[in-house]
Amino acid sequence: MSRKKIAAGNWKMNTTIDEGIQLASEIANSERNKDVEVILGVPFTHLYPLKKKIPSRSKIKLAAQTCHHLNSGAFTGEISPTNLVNMGIQYVILGHSERRMYNHESDELLKQKVNAALDAGLKVIFCCGEPLEVRKKAQHLSYVKAQLEASLFQVNDQNIKNIILAYEPIWAIGTGETASNEQAQEMHAAIRSFMSKRYNKRISNGISILYGGSVKSSNSKDLFSCQDVDGGLIGGASLSTKEFVAIINSFS
Ligand code: PGA
Repeated sequence: MSRKKIAAGNWKMNTTIDEGIQLASEIANSERNKDVEVILGVPFTHLYPLKKKIPSRSKIKLAAQTCHHLNSGAFTGEISPTNLVNMGIQYVILGHSERRMYNHESDELLKQKVNAALDAGLKVIFCCGEPLEVRKKAQHLSYVKAQLEASLFQVNDQNIKNIILAYEPIWAIGTGETASNEQAQEMHAAIRSFMSKRYNKRISNGISILYGGSVKSSNSKDLFSCQDVDGGLIGGASLSTKEFVAIINSFS
């Protein structure tokens, strides 16, 4: 079955608004494989200006990098899922390891965020992945399974179609160290089988599972050629038009 191919950029806390507009415009105007869905995960401050500036014919989608787990209330500084939908934003990244670590986002909180985002009508890029010590003990598969069980498996059969999964081994994020094709394929196949057991084969075969962690144009072709890898969540390399477009064009 052919699944959607996706290249999602995660700009994290980088670029000024002007730089972001320039980067997104260059990507929008690039010669790129139009069968690949391109999503840009940008800082909150960039969402509205980019929404206005990127031509809709470019089909580039925007993602927030987090959102609150409630839709309104006395939560100074927070952004709700409804705020995002109201701006015309379609995606939100949830469960990134940096937020789990630096913002102490627990599995339980992420469960609430996933539910709130889906209820508001957002699509969710849900990140999972193990730290190095877990991989060293060869417990990576059960670790990721537990993350999915805790924050995702409450989602019903209908809403799960609005989830994109991203496997990001923590030891590969921003380190220059990438999972080997075998390591990525092993985990992606395992995730697909967890999804099949919780939901069904049709759903698990249809869900896109991205790999993230030091994806570059020099390794993306190999990673994307793995049977169960449907694209990438790309941090550092998504800040360069040349690199990111080369990654988009590396799907076979
Ligand atoms: P990286 O980041 O590509 O810079 O390793 C990936 C991510 O954190 O999503």
